Amino acid sequence: MSLTFVRDPQVTPELHEELARLWYDVSRAGGSVGFVASVTEEEVRAATERQLGRVTSGEYRMLGAYDAEAGGRLVGTTFLRLHTDFKMRHWSMVLGVMIDPALQGGGHGLRLMRETIDMARDAGLEALRLEVRGGMGLEGFYGRLGFKEVGRVPGGLRLSADDYRDDILMWLALD
Ligand SMILES: CC(C)(COP(=O)(O)OP(=O)(O)OC[C@H]1O[C@@H](n2cnc3c(N)ncnc32)[C@H](O)[C@@H]1OP(=O)(O)O)[C@@H](O)C(=O)NCCC(=O)NCCS
Repeated sequence: MSLTFVRDPQVTPELHEELARLWYDVSRAGGSVGFVASVTEEEVRAATERQLGRVTSGEYRMLGAYDAEAGGRLVGTTFLRLHTDFKMRHWSMVLGVMIDPALQGGGHGLRLMRETIDMARDAGLEALRLEVRGGMGLEGFYGRLGFKEVGRVPGGLRLSADDYRDDILMWLALD
């Protein structure tokens, strides 16, 4: 099964619904996309409103991955946060990297990230940055794409009263 990628999809009520569903499913399955697995639908809906508001305002760009065989369902996303500060306009933070739990482990995540890298290159960006939650093995995933760990804040993320994770900073130069 191959996915179709769409840069900057139109922000419609349907996209709001689809992103909220995807983000909720990924979070409930334990994904590290801003929440922990006990997140509620209301919290994800509120975050979806904020996220797509930033897409509409031009603060973020979005890449959507769609499963044509499942009626064009949204099954993956990434977002690029664009800087207004002139000192940082040459790079972008990658956020919201997720693939539908039912499709994870099939190589779609790597393809999604390669498309994101192409989108960044086409936008003239020189580098990408990521903040990765420690203890998930995600450094290996991003390492496959050439990202390098360039910093780590020990215990910089607190997921619950006794669950502290490193905040790992990764960087990819787009040369
Ligand atoms: C992270 C994510 C996008 C990867 O997508 P995916 O489709 O599952 O990954 P792929 O099948 O393309 O994986 C490619 C390789 O990376 C590895 N990999 C993927 N996710 C991994 C993880 N969480 N930990 C360690 N390795 C991982 C795979 O084992 C695979 O390596 P292999 O070919 O040697 O077996 C997806 O698992 C996901 O949405 N996770 C939940 C949300 C999340 O945590 N996002 C990261 C935010 S920083």
